[in-house]
Amino acid sequence: MRILVLSLLSLHALAGVFWAGSTFALTHSYFELTPKLFRAQMGAAALTVVAGLALWGIVIRGSHGPMATTLAIGALCAIAAAGVQGAMRRSPKTSQRIAAALLSVTVICMVISPYMT
Ligand code: HEM
Repeated sequence: MRILVLSLLSLHALAGVFWAGSTFALTHSYFELTPKLFRAQMGAAALTVVAGLALWGIVIRGSHGPMATTLAIGALCAIAAAGVQGAMRRSPKTSQRIAAALLSVTVICMVISPYMT
């Protein structure tokens, strides 16, 4: 079980770093590369969300409290970011900027969650 959680967490963090990092980069002068990176970003988003949901099912399960609430806020922002990137393909600059703001909240929530006791 420990190996499974560590593997899921590594996959989750690696895919999430690519997704959030490429989104931040595309808000600047590289936003015209958005169509070329679309599949890679959506693939990373899918991996991040699936691994995150699996971690939720194993680590959090039915527990409530500040940590679970913080993770849930971050997860909802991540899902909204994926929705914006998928739905607003014709406005790459705006979509990447909105997604970057949402993913900033996600990253903050994910990394502070262990301290929310
Ligand atoms: C639907 C989306 C997401 C869900 C359901 C989710 C769920 C989770 C859960 C349950 C944990 C806790 C794992 C544990 O305590 O062992 C976690 C940790 C983490 N998540 Fe997410 N996550 C999502 C999106 C993201 C995204 C987009 C990133 C972007 C970088 C991210 C980065 C992280 C990191 C770095 C941790 C480790 C935090 C730590 O323990 O210090 N997550 N996530």
